Amino acid sequence: MKNIQDIDINGKTVILRCDFNVPLKDGQVDDDTKIQKSLKTIKYIIENNAKVVLLSHLGRVKSESDKEGKSLKVVADYLQIQLGKEVKFFNVTRDMNLKENIDNLPLGSVIMLENTRFEDVPSKFESSNDSELAKYWASLGDIFCLDAFGSAHRSHASTAGIGAFIPSCLGFLMQEELENLSYLINNPQKPFTIIMGGAKVDDKLKLIEALLPKCDYFLAAGGIANSFLKALGFDIGTSLATESNEVILKLRELMLNNKQKIILPLDATVGSTYDENYVKFKSIAEIDKNEIIYDIGSKTIEKYKMAIDKSKTVFVNGTCGLYENPKYANGTIQIFNALSLSSADVYVGGGDSVAAAKKLGFEAKFKYMSSGGGATLEYLGDGKLEAVEYLKEHTHEEINA
Ligand code: 3PG
Repeated sequence: MKNIQDIDINGKTVILRCDFNVPLKDGQVDDDTKIQKSLKTIKYIIENNAKVVLLSHLGRVKSESDKEGKSLKVVADYLQIQLGKEVKFFNVTRDMNLKENIDNLPLGSVIMLENTRFEDVPSKFESSNDSELAKYWASLGDIFCLDAFGSAHRSHASTAGIGAFIPSCLGFLMQEELENLSYLINNPQKPFTIIMGGAKVDDKLKLIEALLPKCDYFLAAGGIANSFLKALGFDIGTSLATESNEVILKLRELMLNNKQKIILPLDATVGSTYDENYVKFKSIAEIDKNEIIYDIGSKTIEKYKMAIDKSKTVFVNGTCGLYENPKYANGTIQIFNALSLSSADVYVGGGDSVAAAKKLGFEAKFKYMSSGGGATLEYLGDGKLEAVEYLKEHTHEEINA
């Protein structure tokens, strides 16, 4: 696929799909990472004598009432301050006068339309990649640029469909993400270590299977580790773990085939189902039925640090414990600290781990923090993103290329 810098955008209107799906608090932007990461492409477009029409979703919208509090106006206002330039917000996703209004704005204008997922009510026009909707959005400009890395694993009208009607390209954020993540799946400097935590092993099973052959050490934490321990027959009390027998069997098989690679916790900090102030440090073999594993323990931290010290590349996905609660944050902090002191190139990806690294003050210490959640994991799993695959298959005749 072409990159935006390979296309002559002079005098053109670029439809730019960003991922402005940012967390909001009290109606205001709470974490602006995705907005900051979008600025490079937006600025490039307006500095190259072109106009930009911004599209994005915000949250999940499945009914009329879901629209409440999900207008992109708050992002338009925020972006306006970051750019130091007016962002003209239209509170519609389509209407009769929109094209004329956009055409009448001068080159260099920044325009934003309303939340693309408002088109999912009453019919799923956006998420089913409805071709009429995609064609309509395409009619508003000359070039489609995909820069919504966090949404590029979804083939929706705004992320993919538009590309069937006008020439398409990738923005700078997409390029940066693909370059960094493909390094991890193609030729990471070895030893390559993966630290994977988080809640949902069922969702990550495919990814684990895809990544195991590529890494030298796989350090498990959180629900992922609990599920492996459960598969090996450990009593993990009421800790979060997979309920699926099929997944248990698969994990057992993975364990057997990767005995040297997969490293599991030896001990844990546990809480209890009946007392919220209960905190104990336990060996994994001693967990009682009312106890819940909330963090890795000190012996595990030491063992994981040894693997980190040997590594040249590390990918972190998910946290080592329930870091939001200070009682269970030690494992996550110690491992981040060991990573920041190690000479390994550290890549962090997947919503939770990026948020944790930022909240705990490690943001500047790591080589790369991916802006994607599901998209990062899907790309690492099979080297593909649905929207990009769609755009490659539906290449429209290139202009000025
Ligand atoms: C994200 O935040 O992961 C992306 O914006 C995708 O959001 P979605 O899972 O609602 O499609």
